Amino acid sequence: MEIFVECPDDVRAVLADPRFIPVPPDRSGPQGSMAWLRSAVARFSHGTDHVRRRAIVEADLAAIDPAALATAAARSSRPADEVAVAVLAEALGMPDVDTVVAEVPAIAAGYLMPGGAAAEHAADCAVAALVKLLGGTPDERVANRIGLLVQAYAATAALVRAAVEHGSIVDAAPVRTTRRVATVDTELAGAGDTLVLDLAAAGLPFGGEPRLCPGRAHAVAIAEGVAR
Ligand code: HEM
Repeated sequence: MEIFVECPDDVRAVLADPRFIPVPPDRSGPQGSMAWLRSAVARFSHGTDHVRRRAIVEADLAAIDPAALATAAARSSRPADEVAVAVLAEALGMPDVDTVVAEVPAIAAGYLMPGGAAAEHAADCAVAALVKLLGGTPDERVANRIGLLVQAYAATAALVRAAVEHGSIVDAAPVRTTRRVATVDTELAGAGDTLVLDLAAAGLPFGGEPRLCPGRAHAVAIAEGVAR
């Protein structure tokens, strides 16, 4: 069953409660595939896997100064959808930024909600291209680098568009909901139920601990840079 959770206190409680976990990937696949990517990133993990994978993302992001990203975004002539991925890939020292920018959308399209066979195949090709760019070994470090770029793609593009259209990102809420699955019977949901959490209603555009968006300072810096 799918349960929509709008009450801000309930949204906060579910986010903070380890009995509710991100919706686990529904398929497995070979190393270096889209299914592998979903199974290896912080976004869909919980417990010790999440702690370890999140540390990889945080280390990558800690090496990037948001102010430098803002400057790079201000100078970029790329369209709104591309700026965030391009400046992040550059800041991470990735080769061939154009390929990164071209491949990330196919991965982002089915990252949270896997699509049909054709979309999954396109995503498999895109993941393979990025794994190759990142040295060719599909390990957790590579997966979480790709995950970082994918997470940055759509949400930050929406912030950038708000910055361009309104000169401000104050009212932008690019991520309105997130999902969790109850692992046991709880007062809000039975074991196996999916909860759709209204982050916008709870005033939590970047989610909540322990999965608060680690890229929030970077995303805001990029959007503000574009609006300069
Ligand atoms: C530089 C841009 C960004 C990067 C690198 C980034 C990265 C990430 C990563 C790696 C996660 C997974 C964290 C985990 O599972 O522990 C995440 C989660 C999240 N991000 Fe971002 N993000 C960016 C931009 C944004 C923007 C612009 C928004 C919306 C305003 C946003 C909202 C969220 C939310 C709500 C979550 C938590 C999802 C959940 O709990 O289910 N992110 N982000």
